Amino acid sequence: MDISEKYTEFGPMRTLVALSEYTTLRVGGAAAMFFEPQKPEHLAELLTQLEIDGIAWKILGAGANSVPADAGFDGAVIHTGSMRRIFRDGDGFRVWAGASLPSMIRAAYELELSGLENLIGVPGQLGGALAMNAGSAEWGVWDVVENVTLWVPGIGDHLKIEQHDRQSLNPQYRNGNLQQKVVLEALINLKKSSKPEIKHAQETLLRAKNASQPVTVPSAGCAFKNPPGDSAGRLLDKSGLKGLRVGGAEVSSKHANFIINCGDATAADVTELLKQMHAAVIEKQQVDLEYELVVW
Ligand code: EPU
Repeated sequence: MDISEKYTEFGPMRTLVALSEYTTLRVGGAAAMFFEPQKPEHLAELLTQLEIDGIAWKILGAGANSVPADAGFDGAVIHTGSMRRIFRDGDGFRVWAGASLPSMIRAAYELELSGLENLIGVPGQLGGALAMNAGSAEWGVWDVVENVTLWVPGIGDHLKIEQHDRQSLNPQYRNGNLQQKVVLEALINLKKSSKPEIKHAQETLLRAKNASQPVTVPSAGCAFKNPPGDSAGRLLDKSGLKGLRVGGAEVSSKHANFIINCGDATAADVTELLKQMHAAVIEKQQVDLEYELVVW
């Protein structure tokens, strides 16, 4: 049977889709198979079928932290961007994995619910944000999660879905601790507030980010995690790396922990630049920084 026929029940399958169109850094080759499920149930069924068929898969949300290889991915890439519904639930939301953080922030503002302000300016989707515990240096999105519904792999041909709360997963700074589990949806707890208060918090945070981060050029946010008690940006800056360039990829001169795409960067340029940044901070500051970007 033609494989695309077998997979039609999960929505249209596209082939040879350029991943550079789906990453904020604008790099990455083609995905052999590319799916955009419309609902969490479809995502779970699709993942189970791919596991049964032994087809390698990767989830791609807003691509705001991912560096797919120039050679692309010889398997199935599942883009969650069509699963973007947000439902009101008390003083919070039940949100599908593909809802964008900006849309959640807008909805919270309209309903006068506070708690998501720290995510202002972050271009991700909920699933990816939970996988990496996105946020600020001191705050992560898991701080407002009541529970998540996850697809769990490795159980033969039976679909397995689990619900977890924060305690059972124990997310850490920039690590949602999901292992190979995939977010289907989450229940988010917010607090009643007022539009002026939320707006003030959002504007203050956005102003600070606009002043310190290269927000108008393609990047994937911070390249490295902050080491305990310090800032990767400060260490990279102190190592003299601002402006360092490999091909079309450059260390931002505004914030040394951001790699920007000057127009024609490849994934190879980005990965080589990451290696040089990492080595320079070991050599000059004796700190072994951990990658935040996920290199495929
Ligand atoms: N700094 C420098 N030079 C630089 C960059 C920063 O000296 O080139 C110094 C700053 O002056 C400041 C300190 O380093 O004293 C910290 O910098 P900043 O306030 O910009 O925060 P950060 O720790 O670099 C963290 C998150 C960001 C988040 C901001 C604001 C990490 C790795 N980064 O940045 O998250 O937006 O706080 O909340 O935790 C991301 O993870 O992708 C990300 C952008």
